[in-house]
Amino acid sequence: MASRRSLSSRLFIPTVLLFGLLLSGCAKNAKQDTLEPDSQVGRDILSVFLHSFWVAVVVFVIVEFALFWAIWKYRAGRRSADDRDPVQTHGNTKLEIILTIIPAITLIILGVPSTKLIFQLDKRPTDALKVEVIAHRFWWEFHYPAQEGIPEDIYTANELHVPVGKAIDIDLTGTDVIHSFWFPRLNGKRDVIPGHPTHIHLQTEEVKEYWGQCAEFCGLSHANMRMRLVSQSPNDFETWVQDQTAEAVEPSSEDAKAGQELFKSETLGCFGCHTIKGVSNGRIGPDLTHLMSRNTFAGSVYDMSEVNLADWLRDPTKEKPGSVMPNLNLSEDDISNLVAYLTTLK
Ligand code: CUA
Repeated sequence: MASRRSLSSRLFIPTVLLFGLLLSGCAKNAKQDTLEPDSQVGRDILSVFLHSFWVAVVVFVIVEFALFWAIWKYRAGRRSADDRDPVQTHGNTKLEIILTIIPAITLIILGVPSTKLIFQLDKRPTDALKVEVIAHRFWWEFHYPAQEGIPEDIYTANELHVPVGKAIDIDLTGTDVIHSFWFPRLNGKRDVIPGHPTHIHLQTEEVKEYWGQCAEFCGLSHANMRMRLVSQSPNDFETWVQDQTAEAVEPSSEDAKAGQELFKSETLGCFGCHTIKGVSNGRIGPDLTHLMSRNTFAGSVYDMSEVNLADWLRDPTKEKPGSVMPNLNLSEDDISNLVAYLTTLK
């Protein structure tokens, strides 16, 4: 009795974990569900996936049926009275030809639609908005080069704004290690490789926010390297572009002014890494000129709020392991002045 109870208690945790794992696949409105695509490219990829999946199911059923049939048919005691080894054969040209042709046909059935789609997806769209995605450990930089509708270069971080229905032609570049750009409901993954530019395109169909994330292990905070895609009406996008190309707001309150002085000070050196238009030109960390136009920060892991910004400044490496921004050992007064300044950057 006692041993039986210990067996069931030993099985309890693995069972809970297994069910937890199964249930985690049942989330309603999962934000990164590739099985619920929201774009033509997503649907094309899903259809190739389902095609391969059902071919695999057919192969699986046939192979398992043959396996279990053989186990049952030749089980011990079924063969002959003295259970000796079955007759050994070698070489059967007809069988070998059949067993070569069947996998070859299966590979063609699997390979042709996949290859066709790979070439189709590689074509750059025409009449597209051009965006450069620059992957950093552990955040995403988005650069909109000046073009029709974008009067001057825009740099932002973690939140990619796009007009709904417009094709977005994305060039991907990296600064440190290999990352992978992925909005599961809109497109497949595309590796971002330093020194080897790649590209991908997207097109949304709804005014909606999408979640994306880095899909290539890139270090301690790989899982914290997330991003958002904000699909907007053309008018809202135009307003966003106007806001992004505006000059930085000059601080007016005393504590915000003190915060700006700290930002510019040689002792902290914030200006060496961050750009604030008219104040600094650092290019290592995110452009902060319009920080408050974003809803999230630090790889879209934290909601934009004074409390979260203060926690971040207190020790970035605690909030996001492996963060390039170091712990500057700021005093609470400095933190509150810097937050006062940052929150003016609309
Ligand atoms: Cu970047 Cu994983």
